[in-house]
Amino acid sequence: MSTILLAGGAGYIGSHTAVELINSGYDVVVADNYSNSCPEAVKRVEEITGKSVKTYEVDIKDTEKLETVFIENKIDAVIHFAGLKAVGESVEKPVLYYRNNIDTTLALLECMNKYSVKNMIFSSSATVYGEENPVPYTEQMKRGTCTNPYGWTKVMMEQILEDAAKADKELSVVLLRYFNPIGAHESGKIGEDPQGIPNNLMPYVAQVAVGRREKLTIFGKDYDTPDGTCRRDYIHVVDLAKGHVKAIDYILKNNGVEIFNLGTGTPYSVTEIVDTFEKATGVKINHVYGDRRAGDLPESYANADKALAVLGWKTEKTLEDMCKDTWNWQSNNPNGYKK
Ligand code: NAD
Ligand code: WQD
Repeated sequence: MSTILLAGGAGYIGSHTAVELINSGYDVVVADNYSNSCPEAVKRVEEITGKSVKTYEVDIKDTEKLETVFIENKIDAVIHFAGLKAVGESVEKPVLYYRNNIDTTLALLECMNKYSVKNMIFSSSATVYGEENPVPYTEQMKRGTCTNPYGWTKVMMEQILEDAAKADKELSVVLLRYFNPIGAHESGKIGEDPQGIPNNLMPYVAQVAVGRREKLTIFGKDYDTPDGTCRRDYIHVVDLAKGHVKAIDYILKNNGVEIFNLGTGTPYSVTEIVDTFEKATGVKINHVYGDRRAGDLPESYANADKALAVLGWKTEKTLEDMCKDTWNWQSNNPNGYKK
């Protein structure tokens, strides 16, 4: 049985991926400093799967401490989720973002090299397509110009990983470019639990629904899109997690560097999200229209053909599922993981 190290595995996508990997027969080890998560998320993964999860509280930038994880476990592959991800905060604190996101990547690569771990899957983002590329995005497009430091960290980390794999022919790298993950595990036990005011649309909608926020502001209604609001490729986090299982199956058997979009290929507008959430849950979302948010692109969505052709993966869940499961999580856990 292969053992997968989930760096940042207590977070939103990491915890869902842990469930799917365990359910597919993999052993997982979680390493996280809980800077944007909590141990309770891993406990919930254990509850869902009925398996215990070996967990390390470690700052992944700290190569020395990270080594312990590699010494104590025979790791077959690493999935690198450990990053800071708030776009607005990255504009205010660029050095924090570059330091954390780049250093975690370098520390993992150093430990992997030292302990001969040759498989790395990286949480990249559609943001690397930047401003220039036309939608739908395909993997062979050149990385574009990002509008914020967070996006640049992803561009840089992709480059670092490609260079590392070029230099070490035994090192395999899969770059997974996520689109807009939303939703939660159907049990309602794990989900997205942002600290403070949510930056992303769906957690904001969910907090309005549960009464934690008064109203949603829709950023801009004068975009060149069918209803004037931005369109995104929202993907259910469980579909996304299953994409990681396929990527692990793949990387354990194949060598080289591959890039995959993980999206549905279908864009929805902000207004469609609000309407679908209301219909799927029966809860009204108080909302107003405001100014455009700096840095937002009118549209972002995937061409998801490559993941289907090579990994045999495609999304199965609908937008209604995404809304229902978000609400199931939020209404069962109005304050997230805090009791
Ligand atoms: P998250 O914040 O819930 O998870 C990231 C985890 O990494 C957290 O548990 C955090 O505590 C941990 N972490 C951060 N820095 C660390 C460090 N130095 N040492 C140890 N642990 C550290 O975010 P998520 O939504 O689960 O995203 C996971 C990854 O996917 C991130 O790299 C993110 O940039 C990327 N991504 C996310 C989205 C999205 O919309 N959620 C989209 C594209 C890409
Ligand atoms: C979606 C749409 C907003 C909040 C970001 C990162 C990306 C990726 C995923 C993460 C946009 C609108 C939002 C609100 C709104 N990375 N909106 N009111 O911007 O597509 O992508 O998250 O790690 O790199 O940039 O996602 O959820 O913030 O916004 O109207 O209160 O919802 O303008 O059109 P985005 P989002």
